[in-house]
Order: sequence, then structure tokens, then C-alpha cells
Amino acid sequence: MSDCLLEIRDLKQYYPVRTKEQRKTFVKALDGVSFQVKEGEVFGIVGESGCGKSTMGLTICKLIEPTSGDIIFEGRNISGYKRNAMREVRKKIQMVFQDPYASLNPRMSIHDIIAEPLIIHKLCRTTQEIDARVLQLLRQVGLDDYHAKRYPHEFSGGQRQRVGIARALAVEPKLIIADEPVSALDVSIQSQVLNLLSDLRKELNLTYLFIAHDLSVVEHISDKVGVMYLGNFVEVADKYSLYEKPLHPYTQALLSAIPVPDPEVKRERIILEGNIPSPINAPSGCKFHPRCRHCMEICKQKAPERIDVDENHFVYCHLYGADGKLKK
Ligand SMILES: Nc1ncnc2c1ncn2[C@@H]1O[C@H](COP(=O)(O)OP(=O)(O)OP(=O)(O)O)[C@@H](O)[C@H]1O
Ligand SMILES: [Mg+2]
Repeated sequence: MSDCLLEIRDLKQYYPVRTKEQRKTFVKALDGVSFQVKEGEVFGIVGESGCGKSTMGLTICKLIEPTSGDIIFEGRNISGYKRNAMREVRKKIQMVFQDPYASLNPRMSIHDIIAEPLIIHKLCRTTQEIDARVLQLLRQVGLDDYHAKRYPHEFSGGQRQRVGIARALAVEPKLIIADEPVSALDVSIQSQVLNLLSDLRKELNLTYLFIAHDLSVVEHISDKVGVMYLGNFVEVADKYSLYEKPLHPYTQALLSAIPVPDPEVKRERIILEGNIPSPINAPSGCKFHPRCRHCMEICKQKAPERIDVDENHFVYCHLYGADGKLKK
């Protein structure tokens, strides 16, 4: 597919850990994930805490090396790239983190924070060029020129996240991996930052991998959404299919937790039983089976295969036949 910017194939990230008995084992944070993101698209990733969302972001931009699998960016398989080869790629893939306070150096002025990537990647020749570019970036994210002289502690959470976004934009990336960029912000500020990200995407033709805890945050910004559970996607679909026709019992449960503003619309609330199990000792078969209200015998024994329901919608669930229809 020519307009595919990022393709992930069977990506695994196994963290080596020791059990209480000092036995060596692995946390299977990503357990064979595959998906594609087209150029200009916003791909939302949602799932409960610990399902592997941050690991996915860090592995794709190779801040941690994948255990196995392919990361194909702009047609090149970067999964085996070493530090030097990654330098060029890193300019094109930038991350925005959840906690802007922790990710901005408190001793550096905003000017220096945004200028740093320009200097590292040698994108400006003179200090005048750097100053002009820093001001341009500040304006692009809705901050004022005088903010350049200030320090991170003088900003509100929302403004700090704007600085984090300006710093990511400095190198003119193609793909931005935003790991819960609004989770630490007040609800009223969340929508401002989401709107900014939406506007920037159109203006600069960016592609986003947008990670969030729950489906309501990614609903407006995403074109496609993937729902993760314990290191795998359980369902991936374009936004309209996913929100209107969720197929996986886990997606249905997550959606049922979002309040509907229209009092006429009644949605059954599905309560998820139990906690998310440990990724060290994941359940057999379908990993969701112990919490699934439709659990069948086969779910305990066999991991479900990917079922393509239509061109932009796939699900991993034994409830559906190979034709994508609910089994009788
Ligand atoms: N460096 C590490 N060593 C060992 N285990 C790790 C490491 N980093 C993450 N994990 C484990 O991998 C799993 C996935 O973690 P990850 O941070 O990717 O989840 P997440 O979906 O981003 O969670 P949250 O929503 O809380 O941010 C968790 O069980 C976590 O404890
Ligand atoms: Mg995380």
C-alpha cells in the first residue's frame, strides 16, 4: 500500500523480569501486534492501564529495542536500525508525553528547550535563524513571543503541553506518537489541546499515533481506533464502525462506560468483572476469557484468529465466524 506510512508486523516486546522466587521470566508487554497507519491518519490506541500502550509508542520509535517483529516506516524496515541509522528516522518520528512537567528540563528556558532539537539536528545555521524558528513554533502552538524567556514552572499544565508539542514539531516530523498527551490536564484544557493537535495535523499534514486510556478521549480526533488488551489488539476499526458497531465484548464494555448525553438513548452498562490479569502469566486461549460474559469452552483453549469483518474492521473473537458474522 503506497499511502501506508507505518506498518507494524508481529511486534513483540518481552521485558525480562524475575519472579518472587527469583525465577527468570518475561512480561509480554506486546505479544505479536500488527497494524497499519496511513499517511495523514490519526490512529487511536486505547486500553486499560498496563496493556502495553506506552511500550508500543516507545518500541515504535525505538527508544527501546523490540524483542522481535517489523517496524516499517516509509517503506523501510527500521526494527534492526542501530543508533546512527536511527538518527535520521528520529527526526521524522517524535513523541509527546503524558506529563509535560517531567519531560521538560526545569533549568532550561522555553527558548532553549525548543532550540535544542534544532541545534542537535543542525536545522538552523545562525542564532538569528534559531530565534526566528523558536518564535514561529511558539505561535504555531498558541503561545506568545514573551513566553520564550520563561521557565517550565511558570506555565500551566496546558501551556507546558503546548511547549512539548512545539519541541516535537521543531524537527518537522511526519509521525507524532502522543502518549496520553491530555490525561494529566483538566477536562476544559483537554479539549483545547486536542483541538490544537487536530489543527496542526491539518496544517502540517501530520500522522498521529494517539494513545489514551479510554474511548471518549480518542473519539473526536481519531480516524481509526485500536483497542488493546494485555499486549494485543482485540479489535481495530475505523471510528464510525467501532463506536456504532463494536464487535468485541471488551470494546462493548469499554463503550458502555461512556455516558451518553442524549437522555433518550439508553445504553446497557456492561460491568467488567475482575482486574486485568498479569502479563507475566496471561490467561490461556483468548486472554480476555476470564472477564468475558460470552466466554465459551474454546475461548479458554485457543487464541482467536484475526477475522476481517470488512476492509477497515477486524476483530479477534471466537463469537464470529470467518465470514465476520456472529456464529449461531
Ligand atoms: N522496563 C520494564 N520492565 C519490566 N516490565 C515493564 C517495563 N515497562 C513496562 N513494563 C510492564 O509492561 C506492561 C505494559 O506497560 P505499559 O507501560 O506499556 O502499559 P500502559 O498501557 O502504557 O499502561 P498505563 O495506561 O498505566 O500507562 C505492564 O505490565 C508493565 O508493568
Ligand atoms: Mg502508559
